[in-house]
Amino acid sequence: MCGIIGYIGDADAAGVLLEGLKRLEYRGYDSAGMAVLGRGGLDVRRRVGVLRHLEDEVRRAPLAGTAGIGHTRWATHGQPSEENAHPHRSGDVVVVHNGIIENYLDLKRRLQGEGFAFASETDAEVIAHLLARAMRDGRSLPQAFQAVVGELQGSYAIAGLCEREPDVLVAARSGCPLVAGHGGEASFLASDVTPLLAHTRRVQFLEDGDVAVVTRRGVTVTDADGRPVDRDTVAVDWTTETAEKGGYPHFMLKEIHEQPQAILDTLRGRTVVDDAGRVSFPDVTITPDEFRAAGQIWIVACGTSWHAGLVGKYLFEELLHKPVHVDIGSEFRYRKSMVRKGDIFLALSQSGETADTLDAAREARRLGARVLSVVNVVGSTMARESDGVLYTRCGLEISVASTKAFTGQLVALHLLALHIGRVHGILKERAIREWLDQLRQLPGHVEDVIKRDGELLAVAKRFYQKNNFLYLGRWINYPIALEGALKLKEISYIHAEGYAAGEMKHGPIALVDEDVPVVVLAPQDRLYRKTVSNLMEVKTRKAPVIAFTSEGELDLEDVADCVFRIPDAVPPLLAPVPLTVALQLLAYHIGVLRGIDVDRPRNLAKSVTVE
Ligand code: G6P
Repeated sequence: MCGIIGYIGDADAAGVLLEGLKRLEYRGYDSAGMAVLGRGGLDVRRRVGVLRHLEDEVRRAPLAGTAGIGHTRWATHGQPSEENAHPHRSGDVVVVHNGIIENYLDLKRRLQGEGFAFASETDAEVIAHLLARAMRDGRSLPQAFQAVVGELQGSYAIAGLCEREPDVLVAARSGCPLVAGHGGEASFLASDVTPLLAHTRRVQFLEDGDVAVVTRRGVTVTDADGRPVDRDTVAVDWTTETAEKGGYPHFMLKEIHEQPQAILDTLRGRTVVDDAGRVSFPDVTITPDEFRAAGQIWIVACGTSWHAGLVGKYLFEELLHKPVHVDIGSEFRYRKSMVRKGDIFLALSQSGETADTLDAAREARRLGARVLSVVNVVGSTMARESDGVLYTRCGLEISVASTKAFTGQLVALHLLALHIGRVHGILKERAIREWLDQLRQLPGHVEDVIKRDGELLAVAKRFYQKNNFLYLGRWINYPIALEGALKLKEISYIHAEGYAAGEMKHGPIALVDEDVPVVVLAPQDRLYRKTVSNLMEVKTRKAPVIAFTSEGELDLEDVADCVFRIPDAVPPLLAPVPLTVALQLLAYHIGVLRGIDVDRPRNLAKSVTVE
């Protein structure tokens, strides 16, 4: 994630930037920094950790000036450290960036070849050097900036400043949010509207491809070629709290809606296709030989992440024809461990701090396994202690109930399965490329589910007063039944159980009556008919049935009480992703209808750092 801010006016810039960064701190707290332009030139301050550290620094030695840019970081490239903190500087130019520059390695090599020295491991630093280089031939800051934007691939919101041109800020957006505002004799930039509300309620939401030149007199927006673009000025009447949630009533709903982007970011820049069409995964640092030598694969996690691990088992066994052990962190720790030297041990965790998973990974390492963690929080303990890390790039997850981190984990596990399949020679290049194409279509399928949220709200309204739910799924959707039930439990306090649909007749069917809604996951796959038989078994016992199926399957219409469809184009191994999103929305609506504070459910914590 990351938050960026910019100010140019007559007031003390550092004060405005700090106040603004406080509103943006939810976007990342790995480090914070600012650059202020005053009579003495640029003054850049950066501090690792929460914003308070930067605030203390500014109080200790105030910065003087009336123009500046600021940043709060959620690390993606490079550990949280002062060198990796923004703003990044090159000569008399400074920039802040939110997003991922996919071609940064190419750009970095070229710039290094020309003599530019890099001070950080970030992708963002290339932007500062490119801008400094583009200004060498006498181009103005806006002209140079426009040229630089043309060289960038990936996602970004950028703000920049140059000592030589103190009366202008430049900014651009592609795939990351950016808002501009003007009020009195001052103009503002920010990742969301919250920092602007104290100064102006009249804002412009920039769109992808927009480049902005910001002065004390106002904001001029152009496209990447410098042609003027008309962006409406909108009057915002949000409160600060509504604005932090991006206009959504809860962080959970915001994070559910962020999934298409989170999936895209998790996929982006991960795969390299060389000239011969070979695909490789540079982030996975465990060597092909180590993968080939591994006797067993282990996956250990807790809570929602454990459900992702269970999906991983089906996926790996299906794609790699390899047995996989999946365990809950707190169980693994105290069992007689069967981990052997050279095994591959995957630790899945959103936070990278869950005590039970962390300890399991340490134990596996002690026994000689190669530990690869799949984590969302960069620089977390698990990431630091692992032999390799595969980051899900889902951005900060605030709501206690995990949503986007889970779907991000599923996507990361697909990438890993493709990688292992390649090094084992099980998956051919062509199959991998086709699979990657399918993965790239996932954000669109998720978008499709989100657009039909109204249907899920209608289902929620029908059943939210029930006290027990059953969730049934088979094969790779069995863990999704577990996850759907967990989500409902967590945020509605309704008793819900997830079951393997075929196992229901061995016990849970005794619970079924007209008062127990049964959620059945029956997308188009080789077990569809069998799942429908299980659905009929509960229907016969009068249970209201809520079926989740694919567009082409029409025979559930007459038997199920409610039917929600995911797109037909979703292949069976990817169905867990859109199905999960639909179940998240269902749980969300039920929780809200029951009056629960869904972002902060009772007794739960976002990150459980105790045993
Ligand atoms: C807590 C959270 C869950 C999460 C679990 C594992 O229980 O409330 O949402 O799934 O921890 O967290 P991790 O950060 O390791 O994925």
